[in-house]
Amino acid sequence: MTASPTSPAVAGSLSVAGPPAVAGSFSVAGSFPLAGSRATVPPTATASAWWRDAVVYQVYIRSFVDANGDGIGDLAGIITGLDHLEALGVDAIWLTPCYPSPQLDHGYDVADYFAVDPVYGDLATFDRLVAEARRRSIRVLMDVVPNHCSSEHAWFRAALDAAPGSPERARFYFRDGRGRLGELPPNNWRSVFGGSTWTRVTEADGSPGQWYLHTFSPWQPDFDWSCPDVVAMFRSMLTFWFDRGVEGFRADAVAVVGKAPELPDAPPVPEGTAENDAWAHNPYTVFWPTAHDHWRDWRRLIDDYEAANPGREIVTVSEAYTPDRPDLLLRFVNPEQFHQSFCFDLMLAPWRVDTLRATIEPVEATLSAAGAPLTWTMNNHDTQRAVTRYGRSDAAELSSWTKNNLVYTGTPVDLALGTVRARAAIALVAALPGSLYLFQGEELGLPEVLDLPMGARQDPIFFRTDGREPGRDGCRVPLPWSADPTTSYGFSPATSTATSPATVSPWMPQPGGWGNYSVEQQHDAPESMLALYRSVLSARRACLDPDAGLEWPTSTHPDVLMFHRGDVTVVVNVGADEVMMADVCATAPRLASSRLLLSSSPVHDDPTRLPGNTCCWFASS
Ligand code: GLC
Ligand code: CA
Repeated sequence: MTASPTSPAVAGSLSVAGPPAVAGSFSVAGSFPLAGSRATVPPTATASAWWRDAVVYQVYIRSFVDANGDGIGDLAGIITGLDHLEALGVDAIWLTPCYPSPQLDHGYDVADYFAVDPVYGDLATFDRLVAEARRRSIRVLMDVVPNHCSSEHAWFRAALDAAPGSPERARFYFRDGRGRLGELPPNNWRSVFGGSTWTRVTEADGSPGQWYLHTFSPWQPDFDWSCPDVVAMFRSMLTFWFDRGVEGFRADAVAVVGKAPELPDAPPVPEGTAENDAWAHNPYTVFWPTAHDHWRDWRRLIDDYEAANPGREIVTVSEAYTPDRPDLLLRFVNPEQFHQSFCFDLMLAPWRVDTLRATIEPVEATLSAAGAPLTWTMNNHDTQRAVTRYGRSDAAELSSWTKNNLVYTGTPVDLALGTVRARAAIALVAALPGSLYLFQGEELGLPEVLDLPMGARQDPIFFRTDGREPGRDGCRVPLPWSADPTTSYGFSPATSTATSPATVSPWMPQPGGWGNYSVEQQHDAPESMLALYRSVLSARRACLDPDAGLEWPTSTHPDVLMFHRGDVTVVVNVGADEVMMADVCATAPRLASSRLLLSSSPVHDDPTRLPGNTCCWFASS
């Protein structure tokens, strides 16, 4: 930052420090073309599909830009943010669900898969967004939620009104309870958001009735995919949005869509399992295989759609956490099912050489051997932000490795340290083969807001655990675009007039000092996180051969992670102390004559020394 990023004194209970400064400038040799050099839509060759090495930016609609001033982000707002995304250099955006929804899980409780929630806009605005994005060579992906809908969905309302055993109830999992009067849930399954997966209904005659299954909250009843209505509805939904120009979908929670037909009790969880990790140990739904028939059906539908619509090249990316099991990823990402599946292990790994390598190497080796593309990400709307994760006092300890994005140790945070590590981390992950998904705000170095007032929290996890788990609201705070607090830091439009100074309240409060992270503040600051993201994405496009795999020369330094990617060598010093490059070069002779391409922290024009918590790219040709 050129301007001092120190935050002003903070009133009230919310506080974040401004972005920690990275003093001085860092070297980037040469200049790299920005977004303008990308191919225009539509692409042609499928062998080199656009998404294989694409950078996709996740837009959490509620918190991106609020165009109409009600304090909630919307589709028209996304259009105003497209220039920022074009300058950043992204190939596509993934929109979190914008379908009509009671918003009890902020859109992951879908009431109608064929429309837009009026809070976010309408279909005409959606079409305009697709067109405006396309004009900037940015594709639009949506989010499809196949496991469950909202309890406000017309089908679930009809199921509640219908009798046990009816076709309406067959679209969901309605079962009689256990116990003499059916007063106990049908099995012992735990929900992801806390509590049982079952809720009892009251039948039409007022008597206590059957129970229905919800892997997440009671407001999200699970579909039974053995019901043909469900299969048919999702087939038409995909086509409906493809016809509007949507180029793909992120598929939500695919690992729990299958269920063992008899719904048997889950075995006891290992001792010491965290409350919100219990669900992950249920073998009768997590990775239960029956859902794969449906993903194959989707892929056939997509392949047929592409064949009937030359020039269209659709991508699906599945969300399945597969800790330490890259082989499980292959069940999802293969030519018959999803085009991509997130590789989450790196995102959750402690900041140390052994764990970083142990979460990259096997995934890369397993997927590459199978010809499956890699899909990396370091942040999303369900995970504490990287700046905060890497700033935790145990971030380099094995004990912090919970392998579950909902489970954290809660140790103190040093944001300056977390920021410098997050800078190194983006340079590291952007150098890996495959595609890269970013989550809005990471390019600004936003931290997790850990001290949101209890009354502001909205995540069902918070409510379902009686506040024992804070939930995911802290990574979903509306973005700061300017330093102006009267417009929620540029998130909402100015509504004040000379006579009535009005401040729009955003749906989730922003902490004091938030404006110091704004796009406006970072735009022209060469040492900002935003400038680093632009440089890294630009260098990735200009210098990395998309077809080059990874080679791992042995590092002689315990704090150094190193790999070759074609002509580029990536060196990450995860320790606090500087490292002499001469020591590193002992096992990578080509480094001796290489040129520094990029550094995540200032190297003070002396690339012979690698500062602590820094990632550098070197070119050997
Ligand atoms: C996925 C989404 C998360 C949502 C859940 C239920 O994990 O990413 O935000 O709450 O599924 O749909
Ligand atoms: Ca709005």
